[in-house]
Formats: sequence, structure tokens, C-alpha cells
Amino acid sequence: MIQSDELDTLSIETEDEIIWVEVNRPDKLNALNDRVLTELENLFEAIAKEDSLRGVIIRGTGEKAFVAGADIKELKDLNRRTGEDSSRKGQKIFQSIEDMPIPVVGAINGYALGGGAELAMACHLRIASEKAVFGLPEVGLGLIPGYGGTQRLPKLVGRTMALEMILTGEPIQADEALDCGLVNRVVPHSDLESEARGLMNAITNNAPLAIKKALRSVLKGDELGPKQRYEHESDLFGELCETKDATEGLSAFLEKRNPEFKGE
Ligand code: COA
Repeated sequence: MIQSDELDTLSIETEDEIIWVEVNRPDKLNALNDRVLTELENLFEAIAKEDSLRGVIIRGTGEKAFVAGADIKELKDLNRRTGEDSSRKGQKIFQSIEDMPIPVVGAINGYALGGGAELAMACHLRIASEKAVFGLPEVGLGLIPGYGGTQRLPKLVGRTMALEMILTGEPIQADEALDCGLVNRVVPHSDLESEARGLMNAITNNAPLAIKKALRSVLKGDELGPKQRYEHESDLFGELCETKDATEGLSAFLEKRNPEFKGE
């Protein structure tokens, strides 16, 4: 596993099988430069291989921003070829976050703009401070969202709202993000950390293998045909029926006690 002293632009801390990942460039509102993206890529690759972890929570350092976008200074130097490469790199990393076998919660503590909104959208769940602001301002810079935003946003909020946000570039506040389904919950700013922990605990109290397969069934379903999706769900359901956790969970219910899951 990567150690925190190997990272320049991210901070990590593990607490009770949950890893907190913080994008840590507060003087630039945590903007995603190439270094941040590379560190995210390497870190998530390592996390995916780490059996002892049960969940990831991503947030931004400081009180003001989750991530205020791709680093505009670096965007200025891109040409057609490097622009395509940069977009592909961001897409691949954010896809690897969405593909994580364990739940990833975005704790959105402030501005989530451009690439920051796209990072938030790659998380499985999003919990927002009431101070959070979401937006895709790229068209105002002469660009479009290039880290998956044009694809993920319509899935999360529907095409009508997504097109309004992408074409106007205007930001929305946390309560509007909740209304349109972009975030799961909005909480007081000072409670964000404890509420994110609480949401993660509500997930990790359940059977670990069931959580992994539930994630896979929902997310991989997108890639399969209408019939295959249901077959895939049945395959995963069947696999779980032979796990010790399912035996334990079902027995515990019938014996009126709390289950003790081992992830087996
Ligand atoms: N890329 C690079 N640097 C950024 C950045 C970004 N996306 N967002 C903010 N910063 C930097 C600013 O340049 C400034 O750096 P400086 O102190 O060296 O001048 C610092 O972060 C603080 O930002 P500032 O603009 O002074 O803060 P603010 O409170 O006045 O405004 C925002 C906050 C988020 C409204 C504003 O920073 C902003 O619009 N950022 C760009 C958002 C964006 O377009 N993102 C999409 C990029 S594709």
C-alpha cells in the first residue's frame, strides 16, 4: 500500500478499515494538475488491491473547496493531441474510481467545479456540505467537460438538467444538487466528516461480499444488454448464497441476534 509520505498532492489516513483520501492543494482550491491525477491513479490502483479496506471517502483539503476543477494553468498549454491524451487520462482514472470494488463516498466540502464535479460524479455516493457548489463551467473557458462529465451527469440527473448545467456552465447550490439527485444528502458544513463516516458505516455494517457484488451488479449492469443484466444479477446472487456471510446473515435473523460478518 502507498504510504502518505510518498504523496505530494494527496493526504491519506486509514481509520477502521476506511481510507480517507484528501486532495491537498488548498492554495489552488485543490485543482487537479497532472501530478494529482497521477497520484490518484496510483493510489486507487493500490487501494483496489488492498483486502483490508472496506471503503474510501474522498474530500478536499480546507474549508472552501472539494476540487475547483482541472488546473487551468495546465489546460492552457494543451494542443489537440495532448488535449485528447489528457482527457483520456482523466476519464481512465475516474473510471477506475467508479470501478472500485469497495464503496467510494465523496464528501463534498465546497466548490466541486469542472473536473471536481466529475470526480464527485465518479464516486458511488455523494454527501454534500450545505456550502457545496457544483458546476461544469468548461464551456465558458472554450472547452467541454472531458473527464466523463458529459456522460455521467445525464445518468445522474437526467438529460434535461444535465444539458442546462453543461450548456450554461452555471453552478448550482447544494440544495439544488439534492433536488436533482446529484447528491445523496446535504448536511451542515461542520457535520460533514461525521455524516460521511456515518453513511460509510451504514454500508460497512452489512456483509462485505454482498456490498461488493451489489456495487458490481448496479455498475456493470450499464455495460450489459437488457437480458444479460438480469442474468448477471442472478449469477452474483447465486454466488452469494454459498458464502459464510449469507449463512450467518440469514441465521442471525432467524435466531433474533446481530450477524457477525467475516467477509467469507
Ligand atoms: N485551476 C487552477 N487554479 C485554480 C483553479 C483551477 N481550476 N481554481 C482556483 N484556482 C486558484 C486561483 O487561480 C487562485 O490562485 P492564486 O491565489 O495563485 O491567484 C486560487 O486558486 C484561489 O482562487 P480564487 O479564484 O482567488 O478564489 P475565489 O474564492 O475568488 O473564487 C472560484 C473561487 C472557485 C469561484 C474560482 O477560483 C474559480 O472560478 N475557479 C475556476 C473554476 C473552473 O472554471 N473550473 C473548471 C476548470 S476546467
